[in-house]
Amino acid sequence: SGAPRPRLTFLGTGYLGATYAICFAELGYEVLGFDVDEAKIAKLAGGDVPIHEPGLDELLRKNLSAGRLRFTTSWEEVAEFGDVHFICVGTPQRADGMAADLSHVESAVTNLAPLLKRKALIAGKSTVPVGTAEWIEQLVRRHTPAELGVEVAWSPEFLQEGVAVEDVLRPNRIIFGVKSEWATAMLYAAHKGVFDLALTEDREVPVVVTDFATAELVKVAANAFLATKISFINAMAEVCEAAGADVTQLARSIGYDARIGNKFLRAGVGFGGGCLPKDIRAFQARAQELGVGEALRFLHEVDLINQRRRQKIVQLSAELLGRGYGPAGPDLAGTRITVLGATFKPNSDDVRDSPALSVVRKLARSGADVTVYDPEGMDNARNDVADVTYAKTLTDAVSGADLVCVLTEWEEFRNADPNTLSDLVAGKRVIDGRNCLDQAVWVAAGWEYRGMGKPAVA
Ligand code: UGA
Repeated sequence: SGAPRPRLTFLGTGYLGATYAICFAELGYEVLGFDVDEAKIAKLAGGDVPIHEPGLDELLRKNLSAGRLRFTTSWEEVAEFGDVHFICVGTPQRADGMAADLSHVESAVTNLAPLLKRKALIAGKSTVPVGTAEWIEQLVRRHTPAELGVEVAWSPEFLQEGVAVEDVLRPNRIIFGVKSEWATAMLYAAHKGVFDLALTEDREVPVVVTDFATAELVKVAANAFLATKISFINAMAEVCEAAGADVTQLARSIGYDARIGNKFLRAGVGFGGGCLPKDIRAFQARAQELGVGEALRFLHEVDLINQRRRQKIVQLSAELLGRGYGPAGPDLAGTRITVLGATFKPNSDDVRDSPALSVVRKLARSGADVTVYDPEGMDNARNDVADVTYAKTLTDAVSGADLVCVLTEWEEFRNADPNTLSDLVAGKRVIDGRNCLDQAVWVAAGWEYRGMGKPAVA
């Protein structure tokens, strides 16, 4: 037990599991990635990453050919191979409410556990409601013979899409939620590659060894804090809009105070993605169950502020296009609006709960003729919102537009030359939903510019 280089499996090869499997192979581990989705596994085994994540393709191919990394759809193979099994499956928002859907977690555990033939550690990474690890331990007890001594642990992850490889290889902290010395030793062994890399780079990776519940809560608390930070600055944007102040100057100024910090204070169209929005809802649902719903009531407000940012773009569109905005919303019939950006953030192809696509839907519902362009998110966007026009290039997208809305801060948009675009559009109006454009340059090129939380400039 406690082998120096345990063999690792990653159950679920979505954004989380695929990145972890590939990066831990890169760190020198023997790794097996599992998914129920055969097409996904075939792609990965063939050297093709099913998601857009900078740097991941190269590491996948390198480690496949080094023979350290394999992929499978067989539970038997997983059970036979692994010393530590990391649960990386999705925990989406349930269709019937705000709580997390744990069916994938349950199915991973109940498929794997009965097949285990030797002592192993099942370590959760997925974002889950507090109490899940205890429940998994019960499931494991029910599905494995006691004499094997299979154990459970929780080790949440904090990777951000777009910089996921870096976040996994060089994490800013590691959390071990454990019940035994053996589990702690196994987790240290399973992360030795991370610590060794840090040593060679003269860095330290702080480790917190704690109980199950704290480990689970660390993850949702961190995401709740990040969401709150974004909604805080977006609430300030609302006040700035009413008071004629500039939220970017405000954010910069408060950010110089190290206690506040200058990160995650970018006002705009708000947060989206597969994590922050559903995590703050699941957290509220869990707190309700625990009888402490009041403690997290503010997260409801965080959610509402975030939703209002999306509506704000529609309102600004109507204003700029000279349309009225009543209680039933604006009538944008006959207007041509180009939305630049579909993904929830740049350097990703992820459109889950994307603010950009949510605005696209709202604009289309108000009657606008909407054209969308995104450098990486087009295929996913098409699956999500069907009845709008998708352009092949930025130039195609803006041609003939009455209004351009930049809703994801891709470099291609930030670097776009407003002078070149001027000749293509029908009306030189731009909404900078991420405050990512150089306002002075756009205004100098004759564009009517609206940012988020800034005074209007014509
Ligand atoms: C988030 C967390 O940042 C990660 O630490 C966590 O591991 C991950 O969720 C997860 O739970 O798996 P991610 O969803 O990749 O990571 O994206 P973020 O970079 O956090 O951005 C979330 C959203 O907030 C994006 O739509 C982004 O545009 C928006 N945002 C971010 C702002 O509107 N303003 C900011 O200042 C920062």
